[in-house]
Amino acid sequence: ARKFFVGGNWKCNGTAEEVKKIVNTLNEAQVPSQDVVEVVVSPPYVFLPLVKSTLRSDFFVAAQNCWVKKGGAFTGEVSAEMLVNLDIPWVILGHSERRAILNESNEFVGDKVAYALAQGLKVIACVGETLEEREAGSTMDVVAAQTKAIADRVSNWSNVVIAYEPVWAIGTGKVASPAQAQEVHDELRKWLAKNVSADVAATTRIIYGGSVNGGNCKELGGQADVDGFLVGGASLKPEFIDIIKAAE
Ligand code: 13P
Repeated sequence: ARKFFVGGNWKCNGTAEEVKKIVNTLNEAQVPSQDVVEVVVSPPYVFLPLVKSTLRSDFFVAAQNCWVKKGGAFTGEVSAEMLVNLDIPWVILGHSERRAILNESNEFVGDKVAYALAQGLKVIACVGETLEEREAGSTMDVVAAQTKAIADRVSNWSNVVIAYEPVWAIGTGKVASPAQAQEVHDELRKWLAKNVSADVAATTRIIYGGSVNGGNCKELGGQADVDGFLVGGASLKPEFIDIIKAAE
């Protein structure tokens, strides 16, 4: 069985004081054990050491991005090696905000995923279609192309979690219905079975992101192919605890 995974993507939010408060709330929460749910929070780079050193030991941290290759003369970038050096186990790559605003292509994201995995990081790789693409009927083509760029470059999937995040559901309050999420997760798993392997399809966690909250998480998480969540806005609030509990 695939272990439920709940990620909190804090995006570009927070002051040191706010971060300390969130960590305190998480540290005091009663949640299901590590055998039942894997919890990973992703603060902005500058807060990673603070969160890493103060967060409870059964929760883990993720960076929100990293550079596509070895560090060097790349002003403003943070390398995978640096994250490994700080014992940061996870990194989010290919988030739609970076794909759209920073023009990260499928190939560039695929290269990043392969490089980060090779350095020993675990990767939350994000895919998802825009509203235009959904309305044009090309959801699965878009998601398959994004996944293919990763599959072309990666052979060991054991440290990969795929986050399906429809762009129209991110930060909009327009959550995908449980049936809409299940449909894409199911098709994505079939794509993996056909193009990677039956084993990778059966074992890779596919989590959903886009306006997940304390109210809608239970039904979404109950879908057969929804193995958890990547939570944005609600991960900054005590409500995140309720979302973690949806694992039960
Ligand atoms: P929201 O939960 O704020 O919609 O954001 C989802 C997201 O982008 C997580 O990576």
